[in-house]
Amino acid sequence: MNTILKKIDKDNIDYSVMEMAGEILRRGEMVAFPTETVYGLGANALDESASAKIYEAKGRPSDNPLIVHISKEEQLEPLVKEIPEKARLLMEKFWPGPLTLIFKKKDTVPDGTTGGLDTVAIRMPDNAVALAMIDAAKVPIAAPSANTSGRPSPTTANHVMDDMNGRISMILDGGAVGIGIESTIVDVTGEIPMILRPGYINKSMLENVVGEVAIDKAILGPMDENSHPKAPGMKYKHYAPKADFTMYDGDIENVIKAINKRAKDYIDKGYTVGIICSDETRERYQYGDVESIGTRQNEITISHNLYRILRDFDDKEVDYILGETFNTKELGGAIMNRLLKAAGYQVENV
Ligand code: TXA
Ligand code: MG
Repeated sequence: MNTILKKIDKDNIDYSVMEMAGEILRRGEMVAFPTETVYGLGANALDESASAKIYEAKGRPSDNPLIVHISKEEQLEPLVKEIPEKARLLMEKFWPGPLTLIFKKKDTVPDGTTGGLDTVAIRMPDNAVALAMIDAAKVPIAAPSANTSGRPSPTTANHVMDDMNGRISMILDGGAVGIGIESTIVDVTGEIPMILRPGYINKSMLENVVGEVAIDKAILGPMDENSHPKAPGMKYKHYAPKADFTMYDGDIENVIKAINKRAKDYIDKGYTVGIICSDETRERYQYGDVESIGTRQNEITISHNLYRILRDFDDKEVDYILGETFNTKELGGAIMNRLLKAAGYQVENV
C-alpha cells in the first residue's frame, strides 16, 4: 500500500486534503493524524472491519479497546447510554482536551472497537487538524496511538512513517505534538470517577471540578498476573525502548555519580550507552550519548521530549539507557508512569 503523506498547516488548513482524508476514512481505510497528545491512527469507529484493520496495522492484541474521537458534543449522545452529571462537568471544563472518558456504550458502537467491553472510551482532541479531519469524515474516529504495539507513541509524523509506512492510506503531518504523552483516562460509569491512565489532566485538576476522584490501584506499580487494570492496555509492556533501560533515583549528586560510573563500566566492556538527563545536569555527564529531556523548570518540555528521546535511542541502537527520574510537580505522575513502564520498573535508589 502506498502511504500518502500530507503536510497540514494547522493555522491555514487545506480543506481539500481534509475532504480526501474524510473520504478515505468513510471507505473504511486508515488515516494517521496529529492530536495535542500523540499521533493517532484513525478509522471509522462505527465500522467493525475498519477497526479490525487498526489492530492488524499496529500488531495490537484484540482485547485492547480503542478510544473514539469526536469533534462535536452532539456526536456523543448516539454512542453512549447515559451522560452522568460529573461527566458533563468534566467535558465542559476539559473538552476539547487531553481527557478521555469511559461511558456505557450503545449498540451503535461495535464490539470490534471496544474489544468486547460494554463501555466505550471517548475524547475530543484539542488539535485543529484532528477536529477538521473528524468533521470531514462525518463519523466518529477510533484511534489508538499510531505506533507499532509496544513501541513509544509517535510525537511527530516521521515517527508514524517509521512504524506505519506502507500499512495505512494516509498520514496528516501537522508538525510535532504539544503534550507528548497520551490523554488522561477517567472512568465516569461509577459514583466516584476513577483515573485509569494518568496524563496531563492530573488528579487535583479533576478534583477541582468533580470532588473526590480515585486512581485505579493496578496502574501504580509493576503489573503481575494478578493485577487487572481497568484500562486493558495498561497491562501490556508499553512504551518500551529496545535497549535495557534503568533509572537512577535519589539525591541528584548521587544520581550523576552513579550514572557516570555505570556508563563508564558499560563502555569499557564495549557496550553503547544513552543517558537521559535534564538541561541542568547535561554538562555533568562524561560518557555515552547524552540527551537532555529539557529543563526541569518546564514540565511540558519534559513530557514533549520523552518518547522522541526513547525513539532516538532505538534508532541509534544503544545497548543501555541510564536515566534520571522526573517526579515533577504537576505532570510527574504521568511522566514517571511512562518512564517506569519503559524501564520495566528498573530503578536504582542511590
Ligand atoms: O492521547 C490519547 O489518548 C491517544 C490519542 C491518539 O488520542 N490515544 C491513545 O490510544 O493513547 P491507545 O489506544 O494507545 O490507548 C487507549 C487506552 C488503552 O490503555 C485502552 O485499554 C484504554 O485506553 N481503553 C479504551 N477503551 C476502554 C474502555 N472502554 N475501558 C477501559 N479502558 C479503555
Ligand atoms: Mg498506545
